[in-house]
Amino acid sequence: MDSIIVKGGQELHGQIPIAGAKNACLTLMPATLLSEEPLTLTNAPRLSDIILTMSRLLESLGVEVSSLQDGQVQVLSSKSISNHKADYDIVRKMRASILVLGPMLARDGHAVVSLPGGCAIGARPVDLHLKGLEALGAELDLRDGYVHAKAPKGLRGGVFEFPIVSVGATENVLMAASLAKGTTVLKNAAREPEIVDLADCLIRMGAQIDGAGTSTITIQGVDRLNGATHPVIVDRIELGTYMLAPAFTGGEVELLGGRLDLVEAFAAKMDEAGISVEATKNGIKVTRKNGRVNAVNVVTAPHPGFPTDLQAQFMALMCTADGTSVLEERIFENRFMHAPELMRMGAQIDVQGGTATVTGVDKLKGAPVMATDLRASVSLILAGLAAEGETVVNRVYHLDRGYERVEEKLSACGAQIERVKGNG
Ligand code: UD1
Repeated sequence: MDSIIVKGGQELHGQIPIAGAKNACLTLMPATLLSEEPLTLTNAPRLSDIILTMSRLLESLGVEVSSLQDGQVQVLSSKSISNHKADYDIVRKMRASILVLGPMLARDGHAVVSLPGGCAIGARPVDLHLKGLEALGAELDLRDGYVHAKAPKGLRGGVFEFPIVSVGATENVLMAASLAKGTTVLKNAAREPEIVDLADCLIRMGAQIDGAGTSTITIQGVDRLNGATHPVIVDRIELGTYMLAPAFTGGEVELLGGRLDLVEAFAAKMDEAGISVEATKNGIKVTRKNGRVNAVNVVTAPHPGFPTDLQAQFMALMCTADGTSVLEERIFENRFMHAPELMRMGAQIDVQGGTATVTGVDKLKGAPVMATDLRASVSLILAGLAAEGETVVNRVYHLDRGYERVEEKLSACGAQIERVKGNG
């Protein structure tokens, strides 16, 4: 398995291009199952979750997937769905696989999809996906670890209020409702930019959707959807991650393609920490002058709140802040696995349930650490950039699921970072 070695202490100066959003692409790709005509996604990120896992899952269902321009363009053609069963072997690797359920069911009236099972950051059930589809008339049967779904007369519109905000469940039901008979109203829907991007793509395909980006989405079902070409929205989590890089090291970095409207709550916390963030013609510029950053408290929340996917990276920054900060994780119940790894680097963190109290130290020290999940792994790389000495981040396959060419992007700004290939 590959490792990443970071030698800390270099200021960062330069530009980092931000890729298309992984989480948007993972919901846009299954949307191809809604139409017989090709869906072309441009600005796709070149990540293993996209190029390997989701592509293979769709291919197993009979979708033709062509990856062009080094993976930045994905052409998906789903003339007919030849297999309606999403196998455990693929689904267990990636939770977003459950997103094929709604589209297959809406198009052909039946689908069998493996339950994704647990995952490192919490139990993460799919009950809301299932309840939402039931509200559209789906008949569901859970047996042998699979959801067996039927809608013999097709799905019909309905009103469904999500008991808690769920990004994936909103996406699954939104896709299904696009082909249901009649009107669907989704209440307490997720408002993430990736939902807006999915709705924009579905509208390009001929869907009738109002209110995406607010908590009430109204969908007027149509008989069929056509093909379309759609650019994947910029990745606000990759953006936030690289916005933090100069905050750790000092210096000035411009994030090309970055949009402040996608990261408002996060940028407000950067500002409180004493980091300058400004919009430029080509993106966002982040500057940190000398001195320690201020300690800042953070509570994660659904969009437009502070994203849980940036909590690990922000915690790493707080490890050397001037004072004590309190970080509350309110989305996932077990998302502090980076804390013990950061403590190996000298951080002072006290975790009690969903609350982490971080007492800033003057400097972190390089150490061998283990990447436990996607965002945790990048938080360790950021910490390594500012630490004294060498940090070796092991098990970086998590990183490759969510960050393309991380070592190239950071070393272009002056970081000393390299990948060491492992065997297998
Ligand atoms: C998506 C993102 C992930 C991000 C998360 C929250 C993708 C591919 N992944 O994940 O990076 O961290 O949003 O912003 O887009 N829940 C249930 N029942 C369900 C579904 C969810 O109880 O049926 C719970 C989850 O356990 C969690 C909360 O709802 O506590 C929010 O999860 P959700 O918004 O669904 O996250 P994902 O869509 O899985």
